[in-house]
Amino acid sequence: MSYRAFFGLIKEPFTPDIELDSILQTPALLALSQRVDYVIRIGGIALLTGEVGAGKSTALRWSTGKLHPSAHKVLWVTATSGSILEVYRQLLAELDLHTASSSRAVLTRLIRSQIQNLVATKKQQPLLIIDEASLLRLDVFTELHTMTQFEGDSKPWLPIILAGQNNLADNLLYRTAIPLASRVVARAHLEAVDREGMECYIRHHLAIAGLQNSPFEDAALTAVHQGSGGLFRKANHLARGSLIAAAAEKSQTVTPDHVRMADSELL
Ligand SMILES: Nc1ncnc2c1ncn2[C@@H]1O[C@H](COP(=O)(O)OP(=O)(O)OP(=O)(O)O)[C@@H](O)[C@H]1O
Ligand SMILES: [Mg+2]
Repeated sequence: MSYRAFFGLIKEPFTPDIELDSILQTPALLALSQRVDYVIRIGGIALLTGEVGAGKSTALRWSTGKLHPSAHKVLWVTATSGSILEVYRQLLAELDLHTASSSRAVLTRLIRSQIQNLVATKKQQPLLIIDEASLLRLDVFTELHTMTQFEGDSKPWLPIILAGQNNLADNLLYRTAIPLASRVVARAHLEAVDREGMECYIRHHLAIAGLQNSPFEDAALTAVHQGSGGLFRKANHLARGSLIAAAAEKSQTVTPDHVRMADSELL
């Protein structure tokens, strides 16, 4: 019998591809959402930082998912190599632009005119999200500043949200980043959650998977909280792993031992 059948789970619990409507509305999520609305209104930049797996991308997905699509155009870039060309390529795709050119001047011109077009003709407010912005090379900050500055700056055209690990804030202190950094008007930091926040989180995910009564003993929840350091992705792995360990022993309750067994398999 699979562990899902054993516990009566109607689907895989603790998955990353959580639907927008199922995202847990933590206080941190609401705080971020207010900042997103604020930078959209005034055209500035917001920073979102947090440890790996704290829930940054999910929080951004939720905050931007609430924006009305007819009035907003979310341009979502995820840095991986951290080069400016990578940023431009993804931006072009988000703007439905196609070009064979790899000249930075051409790409910048295309992107800028499409952004102006969105605002002027389609009356859509663009919002640039750069996830994993802590990976951006330092010179990219200079180019980003130039690319997102528009003539007659009274009109806020391109609000930006930069999300990444904690060193993002430090990277913005480098000389080449200062022009961009001077536009930062809001900051949000996703803290690791406390024991109570973790219990809420685990119960929430169990309920999404169809389980209203949590099989976790209190001490097991404490073990998940400690083992995960209050970070959601690690908690997902621990919680799912300990359900599997409990089911293997035909135990309807999840104990701290099951959490320890799960933890021993994680890196
Ligand atoms: N508010 C939330 N409600 C429900 N689940 C969440 C929430 N936030 C995060 N999660 C869960 O935690 C996992 C990790 O979150 P996420 O990928 O957003 O973290 P991250 O901070 O972007 O990580 P990374 O630093 O690796 O990019 C998600 O896949 C999801 O399963
Ligand atoms: Mg992420």
